[in-house]
Amino acid sequence: MIILRTADPTGCSHYQHWSNDDRPNLKYSIPLPNGGEIWPKKQWQWAKERALRALEDGELVFKTVKGVTSVSYKQYLRDSQGEERKTKPQTIIDGFYTQRGTAESVALFGELNKFSFPKPEGLISQFVEISSKEGDLVLDSFLGSGTTAAVAHKMGRRYIGIEMGDHAVTHCAPRLRKVIEGEQGGISKSVGWQGGGGFRFYRLGSTVFDEAGNLREGIRFEHLAAHIWFSETRTPRGKHRRTPLLGVHEGTAYYLLYNGILGDQRPGGGNVLTRAVLAGLPVHDGPKVIYGESSRLGAAALEALNIVFKQTPYDVRAR
Ligand SMILES: C[S@@+](CC[C@H](N)C(=O)[O-])C[C@H]1O[C@@H](n2cnc3c(N)ncnc32)[C@H](O)[C@@H]1O
Repeated sequence: MIILRTADPTGCSHYQHWSNDDRPNLKYSIPLPNGGEIWPKKQWQWAKERALRALEDGELVFKTVKGVTSVSYKQYLRDSQGEERKTKPQTIIDGFYTQRGTAESVALFGELNKFSFPKPEGLISQFVEISSKEGDLVLDSFLGSGTTAAVAHKMGRRYIGIEMGDHAVTHCAPRLRKVIEGEQGGISKSVGWQGGGGFRFYRLGSTVFDEAGNLREGIRFEHLAAHIWFSETRTPRGKHRRTPLLGVHEGTAYYLLYNGILGDQRPGGGNVLTRAVLAGLPVHDGPKVIYGESSRLGAAALEALNIVFKQTPYDVRAR
């Protein structure tokens, strides 16, 4: 991996500074392979001793294009114990071209729906191979056509892919379904992929909390309900009727009194737990967790009724 490259527009052999602090010990020359030397435009990132050691170890790369020299540093991989690997990793992009990615995309989605400039699975598999092991979690927050998720799946990694475009539906999800069914494109043959596994597809709802961590003003019942249900049960709520009974999980019923869900907008009406409100709630014969603005039932009454009362917004957990 290259961490530095610069081209001085004046055409002089100069380097970009590597650090923002002004430190005299970072200003020194590095000998060039042609016998010359090179000074930083401002300063290097490393102390001289370290840079010269890297030079001696063949870790600095000099490149001159149109009279402008640049220097880069080859970063080496570390093994799981943090030891530096003795051998240099091979360049990881040899043999993988975007044409191959396009061919894979056509095979998956057809000529008309192919993806623009998709990476080939073989390329992504090398990144996955050198940076993770089976069972690890791979994140691609810009999923595109879903190559990373498909590769991670075939290589026994768990994964999270995030995609804002419609192709999350038209490309990513169908592609992963094909992977599960055992499609034989991309790296399938080289990793012996036979199909299996599964994935979950979620749509992000509205933001529940504001920047300060408070419940967002005006949040709609169903969004808050989905959040509370998930934070209590760690399971998605799915689509439901607008009812204060969010559902029953492992014998406990979860209720939310919010935004006049009971049709009574008066203060102390729909959002506050009173005996009258309780009597109007869908019945559950067992423990109940009830979220509301406040409770008119005292601690003893709540206990006798097998109710845990939680106050919105204070008891709504961000996670
Ligand atoms: C270049 S593509 C991703 C390529 C893909 N990671 C690969 O390896 O082939 C970038 C994708 O990021 C998506 N994207 C951009 N901004 C995003 C955001 N804020 N949240 C989610 N997806 C985003 C775009 O819709 C596009 O599909």
